[in-house]
Amino acid sequence: MAADPPAQGTRRTAGWWRRRSLRFRLTAVASAVLALALAVSAYVMIGVLGQALLTTIDDAIYQRARDTVSLADAGRLPGEMTTPDGTLLQVIDAWGRITHATTGTDRLVPLLDPGERAAAIAKGRGRFLDGGPYGIPHVLRVRVLSADHGRTVIAARPFGEVETSLSTAGHVLVVGTPLLLVLLAGASWVIIGRTLRPIASLRRGAEEITDTARSRRLPVPEARDEVHSLATTLNDMLARLEKADARQRALVSDAAHELRSPLASIRLQLEVALGHPEGQDWRETAEGVLEDTLRLARLAEDLLALARLDERGGTPGRGEPVELDQLIPQTAERYGEAVTVSVAGAPARWPEARETGEKDEANGGEGTIVVTGDALDLGRVLVNLVDNALRHTTAPVRIELRTEGADAVLTVTDDGPGIPEPDRERVFDRFTRLDSARSRDEGGAGLGLAIVRETVNAHGGAVHLEDASPGLRAVVRLPLS
Ligand SMILES: Nc1ncnc2c1ncn2[C@@H]1O[C@H](COP(=O)(O)OP(=O)(O)O)[C@@H](O)[C@H]1O
Ligand SMILES: [Mg+2]
Repeated sequence: MAADPPAQGTRRTAGWWRRRSLRFRLTAVASAVLALALAVSAYVMIGVLGQALLTTIDDAIYQRARDTVSLADAGRLPGEMTTPDGTLLQVIDAWGRITHATTGTDRLVPLLDPGERAAAIAKGRGRFLDGGPYGIPHVLRVRVLSADHGRTVIAARPFGEVETSLSTAGHVLVVGTPLLLVLLAGASWVIIGRTLRPIASLRRGAEEITDTARSRRLPVPEARDEVHSLATTLNDMLARLEKADARQRALVSDAAHELRSPLASIRLQLEVALGHPEGQDWRETAEGVLEDTLRLARLAEDLLALARLDERGGTPGRGEPVELDQLIPQTAERYGEAVTVSVAGAPARWPEARETGEKDEANGGEGTIVVTGDALDLGRVLVNLVDNALRHTTAPVRIELRTEGADAVLTVTDDGPGIPEPDRERVFDRFTRLDSARSRDEGGAGLGLAIVRETVNAHGGAVHLEDASPGLRAVVRLPLS
């Protein structure tokens, strides 16, 4: 039931650590690594220094011992031995008596007993010896060599000076290392703080945007570093959001505007009818109201279609194979004699022919012009284009479908007044109408072509308007699947 106390403690420490600032954590980690590195190097340095000093002493006492052995072998040992560096010497004969010794050295007791002497000679290296029993207040470093006639030479030197050097070096390091560490930690703290400053100013910038909603860009640091690219990327994102926001606002206000006139018209008709019920032609009123209601319904439908397109963010609603050579004649059927349809150069067979089983031989078989996407949406593209064309044309509207390379090309041509070149792109914008007030009643809210373009783009295609002299031709290209 109760949590394991050590595990709990670890978790609490981890939580505490995560709550610290990035600056603190970076500095702490850098300092810890530095401390470890400094400690290791101090340890290695003391070791190397000690080893070097030991080697120096060993070399010196070996040299003294060798010289003494040479003198002894030559029988030229002086009665009073002295050494300039304070090395102690004892020469011991085969019977264990000290025959010569440096001044001040014990002449009765050898520093090492016979067994130790033999072992030291066999080892051939220096060894440590406590100087206490011989009245020397230091540890001694001792080297033993054998000479002729069973004699032995012992050379010894106090190790104290080395210990002093080492402890001096140790003291310097014990005081210096933490000082150095504090200095370096301070420098890290300052440098890291300076590095993080642009991030802090980004944060402040973001805060200002939220607070005032006026300045809409983050401060971009001068240095061309990661923070710079972060700031520019965020600013690009803000710009996109701002644009989307503005578009959304415009859409809402345009939509509200478009809703107002049919609603006002309905209200007026109903108020007049109710205000003067006597002699009122209720049928006429109902027809007027119905017409306005249909306009409202069409507008709602168009807005919904646009909202769906926005929602899908540039992809078709479905990804099914759509046989355009079937879909286009089927959709055009409802217009009857007002349109002519030709598929891949030949006049399209009407659906009745298909129902009797003669399957599109004239079009080169079934499903030859297939694109991937949403049949309902693509049908709406044709309907929107034909509706526009019918409003302006005098002759039947021509619908043509053919393939061109890897594309299916659908054209809708009328012989109306067309659209002047400078307006041919603009009419694809939402709520853009060019019609005069007279013909406006028939048209929609100016969303038809916007829906066409966004649908076609979502299917990976393109649409444009061109001059058909006389009239206008809408050209839709869709990639074949
Ligand atoms: N075939 C055409 N001939 C002339 N003008 C056209 C044609 N098609 C579209 N337009 C112009 O483009 C405008 C935008 O068309 P559209 O987006 O379908 O809106 P709406 O049909 O609701 O007016 C129309 O108002 C009209 O002025
Ligand atoms: Mg239209």
